[in-house]
Amino acid sequence: MIKPDQKFPGVFWIQIGRKKRNLATKNLVPGFRSYDERVVRVKGEEYRIWSPERSKPAAAIIKGLKYFPIRPGIKILYLGIASGTTASHFSDIVGKEGIIFGIEVAERVVRELIDVSAARKNIVPILASARSPESYINIVSMVDVVYADVAQPDQVDILIKNCKVYLKDGGYAMIAVKASSIDVTKPPKEVYKMAERQIRGAGYEIIQTVELAPFDRKHAIIVARS
Ligand SMILES: C[S@@+](CC[C@H](N)C(=O)[O-])C[C@H]1O[C@@H](n2cnc3c(N)ncnc32)[C@H](O)[C@@H]1O
Repeated sequence: MIKPDQKFPGVFWIQIGRKKRNLATKNLVPGFRSYDERVVRVKGEEYRIWSPERSKPAAAIIKGLKYFPIRPGIKILYLGIASGTTASHFSDIVGKEGIIFGIEVAERVVRELIDVSAARKNIVPILASARSPESYINIVSMVDVVYADVAQPDQVDILIKNCKVYLKDGGYAMIAVKASSIDVTKPPKEVYKMAERQIRGAGYEIIQTVELAPFDRKHAIIVARS
């Protein structure tokens, strides 16, 4: 049993055995696994299970995200793409018409990402620090969504700096906030409020904040619009 999500194009729900609601994306590169994800075939199509334990946007969708800005055909600037676990599902959703510019500072991780991007032609791996958006100005174009998952104390600053350079008018900023990276002494809810205030102060409208527990404790996803 497979059903497309009613609100989010490119996102599917699959029933496997007794577990009715497994999130999935349709594999852009059938036969290629991007990490150790579970793959299921339905009516000749291949779907990749998108686990909320492995990927924060998947957890946010399961926790009731109202608007998911990742859509077919869009351009994304992804800060902290790592080896491409979450990005591989974004890559399935944006499809061949879309593109993901992936910024990652750790060389070892970029090497793993290159294996993924060799198969997924819509991912452009860029070894750089997201703290210096000007360093990739010759590669990255204006985008529809900036997504940040860098787990750094200045993660909100990093998001805003990049949005100022690369986000189109009317585009979306999305951040996976790791509360303990910003302030371990404050309750996570307070840290999310601080992050919201900072994003609002930079001129963006907060659409929603979704806490990711029990999948990812002390993390939330904030979606904002420019
Ligand atoms: C939580 S992991 C990202 C996981 C990934 N987004 C996923 O869901 O598959 C955070 C990543 O951000 C990277 N990172 C940290 N600081 C960064 C910076 N200044 N610029 C770019 N990447 C950075 C780390 O090396 C790490 O790979």
